[in-house]
Amino acid sequence: MSTAQQLNTRFGIDGHLSFAEDAGGLVVAKISNAQATASLCMQGAHLMTWQPRSQPLPVVWLSRDAKLAAGKSIRGGAPVCWPWFGAHPSEPGFPGHGYARTVQWRMVESGKEPDGATRLLLRLQQSEKTRVQWPHDCTLELTVIVGETLRMELSTENTGAGDFTIGEALHTYFRIGDIGAVRVTGLENCDYWDKVGGSVLKRQSGQITFSGETDRVYVNTAAECVIEDDQLGRRIHVAKSGSLSTVVWTPWTEKAAKMGDMGQPDGWREMVCIESVNAMENVVKVAAGTRHTMIVEYRAEPV
Ligand code: BG6
Repeated sequence: MSTAQQLNTRFGIDGHLSFAEDAGGLVVAKISNAQATASLCMQGAHLMTWQPRSQPLPVVWLSRDAKLAAGKSIRGGAPVCWPWFGAHPSEPGFPGHGYARTVQWRMVESGKEPDGATRLLLRLQQSEKTRVQWPHDCTLELTVIVGETLRMELSTENTGAGDFTIGEALHTYFRIGDIGAVRVTGLENCDYWDKVGGSVLKRQSGQITFSGETDRVYVNTAAECVIEDDQLGRRIHVAKSGSLSTVVWTPWTEKAAKMGDMGQPDGWREMVCIESVNAMENVVKVAAGTRHTMIVEYRAEPV
């Protein structure tokens, strides 16, 4: 694992990108340019915050109780879930949402885009431990471009001789005014697996509003979603490609209290997860020698 000092020497960009060690010992990249500010933890390649300069509040939500600790996922931001989504299909002992979010990644490249945005390229570091859970030869990379728009590209290259199948997500938490007052559009008439109280296939009628725990995997949809937030006077656009599932999740009161890191008593009301995913019938077969890339792009505009 490289130290913050080593990363600053190789990848730091004056006034744009620097690395610092957090109190818990994890290294965090701090991005600041004319368009936006953001931070990203090297453990998990976990984007933690993003706030375009045009916005008085962050667009990506980070829990005020988020803990940065070795081997633990951070509550909020944009966790990278890979190479499976949710529970492992056959190994109950393997971590939920895969291991990519809790292992070290390394910096490969940094740079400035022609429009002034900042670009980071990170690669997951395989280890003996990860090979026990995922014995396939592959390279997983995440490109993050921080500007007035946030773009992330999660790319899986199969460098081995056999095919494999992945589930994945960019599990982004968005900052909203209040969960009871927002609407999500873009998933009208889509089928979804409703994970609250079992797993039942249903069809979405109209826009989505929230009045209780919501945990849904919308399938066979590449649609852009929009979070309509009248309270904060903004609209957040969530566009994607290479992803055919969208997960919409809010834990609500009881589950949030049990989780213990959602910012009690009501921090959870200020976020909603709109996750760009490949799960359920949309898991992706990556043939030997090929690459699969999932791309998301987020932007906020006034209502
Ligand atoms: C969502 C799942 O993607 O992530 C939920 O659909 C889950 O079922 C949520 O509770 C949070 O997961 P975790 O592992 O970060 O607590």
